[in-house]
Amino acid sequence: VPALLPVVESVSALREALAGRGRVGLVPTMGYLHSGHATLIEQARRENDVVVVSVFVNPLQFGPKEDLSRYPRDLENDRRVAGAAGADLIFHPSGDVMYPAGFGSGVSVGGVSRALEGASRPGHFDGVATVVLKLLNLTRADRAYFGEKDWQQLAVVRQLVRDLNVPVQVVGVPTVRASGGAAGLALSSRNSYLTAEQQVRATVLSRALRAMQGAFVGGEREVDAVLEAGLALLRAEPEVTLDYLSVVDDALNVVGQCPSPAAGDVSYSEQHGPSSNLHTGDMYR
Ligand code: PAJ
Repeated sequence: VPALLPVVESVSALREALAGRGRVGLVPTMGYLHSGHATLIEQARRENDVVVVSVFVNPLQFGPKEDLSRYPRDLENDRRVAGAAGADLIFHPSGDVMYPAGFGSGVSVGGVSRALEGASRPGHFDGVATVVLKLLNLTRADRAYFGEKDWQQLAVVRQLVRDLNVPVQVVGVPTVRASGGAAGLALSSRNSYLTAEQQVRATVLSRALRAMQGAFVGGEREVDAVLEAGLALLRAEPEVTLDYLSVVDDALNVVGQCPSPAAGDVSYSEQHGPSSNLHTGDMYR
């Protein structure tokens, strides 16, 4: 039985644990770890001397009507998953450690953070950028790992690092998807909000993106027709309330989109990027 992974909660304990241990790989997470997170940790293990997984449900990136208070948490399981994937320690700060009284600064990333999720969730990417920059400064990571599942988040982090000359290498890792009944569904901590039946229904997202990819690869070049190939499937799924469906280029400029009706209670979100395991990249070119 492997020893339980150490958890550090303070900045000083983190610095002590990392001092003199060589190249630092950071995997920032909000916990409730699953095999998607595990692939980031496994890759970090291969490419660094010491691997730290941060587990912090970052209040700054949640909107006032979002799920901050009910976001799932299970630190003991996180220790098992991160340990099995090869992490050396978990950094699990409290809200007071990250945002003590008097905290008053933040990062705002322009460009790629404005459209798509940025438009649907005002302030979200500023909150992500701020906590990611803090985590990079706290760990002085040489490399930091982010999933392609959150394609726009990855683009925002790359822009943050480029714009502010942060001395870290950002590594993108392909999306891990479910097999079995809900095959194709991107693994996500928030899938725990869905019943097994809803998870099967939510596979309409990856099926719709695949259908759009298929249309493009089959020669369709009218962006509205490509969108329609996805919409036809999404419309057939009554439990989906569509926030937006967009086709974007490499720089996340919107090439075509469906205007969004008001967002519903349950919203499923999934993004695919050029090197995702669905190879949707062809769509962008
Ligand atoms: P969280 O949703 O916990 O995800 C942590 C990291 O794991 C992100 O980089 C995310 O893209 C990646 N990830 C999640 N599910 C994945 C999957 N199925 N396949 C591949 N990678 C996956 O994203 C966040 O936390 C936060 O916004 C954070 C970056 C930690 C800032 O608070």
